[in-house]
This record gives sequence, structure tokens and C-alpha cells, in this order.
Amino acid sequence: MKSILTALVALTLIFTACSGDDSQQRADSSETEEQGLTEFELEHGIGPITERVSLSEEPDEDLVIRGRDIYEMKCEMCHNMEGRMVGPALGDVLERRSAEFVMNFILNPQGMTRNHPEGQRMLQEYMTAMPFQNVSEDDAKALVEFLRDYNMNN
Ligand code: HEC
Repeated sequence: MKSILTALVALTLIFTACSGDDSQQRADSSETEEQGLTEFELEHGIGPITERVSLSEEPDEDLVIRGRDIYEMKCEMCHNMEGRMVGPALGDVLERRSAEFVMNFILNPQGMTRNHPEGQRMLQEYMTAMPFQNVSEDDAKALVEFLRDYNMNN
């Protein structure tokens, strides 16, 4: 009994110490008020893409073709280019979102629907959680090129 009590006291102390640390960190960091996300994360999403991605003016043709293949294999069962399906329409997604946001969504859908206000809002609206489709960063960029090409030509 005594050891349980001691453990409880120790746990309380650890917990208090940690929450103290946390508020310290928050005050020191450049996080914005909204859910502790940085400005970059709010605009460009949460995930492995943490800086702007450089894209050439015209989509890269090879990447467009590769992106289309991946889209048909891994995305089409839930997304349409025009109009809503299981998930939102993707034909005009780059008018709503940055390339980095789209890449982070593809690479970290769970993190986005859990921790990003736009992801949370979409999860409520679509009521299905987009799964991670085992897509690499290069594949995600190819998908962006495919979506960019589609958007420019439709
Ligand atoms: C099992 C269904 C499913 C699959 C497969 C899927 N998605 Fe999604 N996707 C969704 C849903 C549903 C949402 C809305 C967010 C949520 O509820 O998770 C979404 C959201 C998105 C968004 C955010 C759209 C916006 O307006 O911000 C992007 C981008 C996206 N998906 C791209 C893709 C790509 C690219 C693939 C293929 C690699 C893919 N998705 C595969 C269901 C899916």
C-alpha cells in the first residue's frame, strides 16, 4: 500500500513538472494561438514537408505520367477529379491548397485529420479517414505535378 502511495505521489510530481515545462516551451516558441501549430503548418499542413517545394513553371511531363499512374492505382477509388466521392474533388485542389499542403496530406493523412483544423473539418464532413497509401515523397510530388497539369488543362 505504501509503495502504491509513493508511486502516486511520484507520478503527480512528474506530471506537474511536465506540464510546467510545456507552458514554458509554448511561451518560448513561435507557435501561433491556433492549436499550437506554426504559421507554416497552418498554411501548408503538418508532415514531412516543412519548407516550400520548388516547382517549375510547367509541370514536368515524366512526373505527370508517373503521378497519373499512382493516382489510378491508389487514389481513384476514393477521389474524383470533378465532384465529391468518398473524399473531396481533386481537380481544383491546388486552387484551394498549396502544393506543400497537398503533399503533407498525402504523406500524413492521419496527422492532418487529427491535428490540423482543415483536416479535422474535412474528416467531419466526409466521415471517412483517408489512409496513408504508402506513397513516397517523390510519389507525392509526382501526384502534385499530375494535379497541376490537370488543373491547367481543364
Ligand atoms: C479510402 C479512401 C481514400 C483514398 C484511397 C485516398 N483518399 Fe484522399 N481523402 C479521402 C477523404 C475521406 C478525405 C477527406 C479527409 C478525411 O476525411 O480524411 C481525403 C482528402 C484528401 C486531400 C485533401 C483535399 C483538400 O481539399 O484539402 C487530398 C489532397 C487527398 N485526399 C489526396 C489523395 C491522394 C493523392 C490519394 C492517393 C495517393 C488519396 N487521397 C487516397 C479519402 C481517400
